[in-house]
Amino acid sequence: MLWILRFLTAVAFLETSNTETLLQQLFNQTYDVDMKPSDDLTMVTITPNTFILLSMDQTQETIQYSEEFLLRWYDPILHWNQSAVSYENDWIKISASRAWIPDVIFTNGIDMDPLLDKDMQMADLRYNGEIRTSRPAVVSSPCPLEIDNFPYDVQKCNISMGSWAFDRRFLSVQSSTIEILPQKGRFEGNSEWELISILTVRSDSYDTLLEEWFSEITYVVTLKRKPVYYVLVIQAPTFILCTITIFGLFTPNSNEDERLSKVELCLNMFAAISMMLQLVSDMMPKASRLPLLGNYIIAEIFVVTAATIASIIIQQTHHHVHTSAIRPRRWLRCLVLCECRRRRFSISEASTVSSVDVPEHAIQSFSILKSSLHQTAVLVRDTLQRMSLISENQLLWLKILDKTDLMCLFLFQVANIVVTAVFWR
Ligand SMILES: *[C@@H]1O[C@H](CO)[C@@H](O)[C@H](O)[C@H]1NC(C)=O
Ligand SMILES: *[C@@H]1O[C@H](CO)[C@@H](O)[C@H](O)[C@H]1NC(C)=O
Ligand SMILES: *[C@@H]1O[C@H](CO)[C@@H](O)[C@H](O)[C@H]1NC(C)=O
Repeated sequence: MLWILRFLTAVAFLETSNTETLLQQLFNQTYDVDMKPSDDLTMVTITPNTFILLSMDQTQETIQYSEEFLLRWYDPILHWNQSAVSYENDWIKISASRAWIPDVIFTNGIDMDPLLDKDMQMADLRYNGEIRTSRPAVVSSPCPLEIDNFPYDVQKCNISMGSWAFDRRFLSVQSSTIEILPQKGRFEGNSEWELISILTVRSDSYDTLLEEWFSEITYVVTLKRKPVYYVLVIQAPTFILCTITIFGLFTPNSNEDERLSKVELCLNMFAAISMMLQLVSDMMPKASRLPLLGNYIIAEIFVVTAATIASIIIQQTHHHVHTSAIRPRRWLRCLVLCECRRRRFSISEASTVSSVDVPEHAIQSFSILKSSLHQTAVLVRDTLQRMSLISENQLLWLKILDKTDLMCLFLFQVANIVVTAVFWR
């Protein structure tokens, strides 16, 4: 029992001593962590391992993401002869602070929060000098937004990586992949943005100050917005509000008071709809142009404004004809009620005249009485005629206005639906 234990400790000791021997051999006094190990070109291969979008700040136009990009390069000093060394594995884990790490950074990053402390970061060293390491971090990068199609927009954000200090004669970056497609847990968008793809583009940059070219890789991250939220929270309520307003404004058979309360309804509607517009503009960068959804709300405001004006005109007409009782013009009746014949008017005239004509034959001898009676009869007839005309005109107007209401209801609702359909993708 005891010898097994001894053997195990001996093996463990051998392991650690072998590792230590190798490390001492590799990192002797001549190795300088701060110096690039060779003056030749060092090729750094970048392999994206994770990219998870955390948030998109639309007013600041930045994206924040959690990333892990692997870096791989060859160190010409750090290698060993496997057959000459008693170390078994062909790789060794070293602390990243012991070896020289290329200064490849996010050249357009504006903030970076590493998930690992610098001294906790490890690197894999292979016997042939290949080193791999990664620096998982939460990074913020600028991403200028194209909001014209909001909320049906697709955004392209650039993430550039390159060396900070070495120009492309000494250090060059390349990517191991050309296109990355979304993959659950590794390459993802967030609840609002769907990751479409990450494309790799070479984008060497020229430094005018140093007059040197710097090697750079740009990952173009394509993100597509999921519009459901905006459709449910802004577009659908706006459509419903407009529909309710149009129906409220043009429901027929109402008196003057009701018409006044309709205008009030309209004003409330404007308050609600402009709140929607405020909601949209708060989400967007203060660009000179309004996004699609903003244009939709403005178009709806125009529809409702036109409907309100039409409703006020109808109300004024109602008020006017109620007090003055003018007969509606023939073309108006013809247009709105489709009654082009003068049928009703002529019949009522004929019947009133004949009923007054009768007493003329009955009274012959009393000429004075007859004439005075005749005058009275004519007066009564005229008054009756006028009264019946007035009520008839009022009825006609009511009919015309009701029909107009219905036509406006139809027209504006069609406009509302057309506007919504135009802005729907
Ligand atoms: C350090 O290591 C290098 C290469 O591994 C070797 O050439 C050099 O002689 C070593 N120096 C010392 C002092 O051990
Ligand atoms: C590695 O070591 C073995 C044994 O010491 C030797 O024969 C061989 O030549 C060495 N290889 C290299 C590349 O130095
Ligand atoms: C993103 O990178 C591509 C490729 O280098 C470039 O064409 C495009 O202009 C860049 N976009 C921005 C906003 O910098």
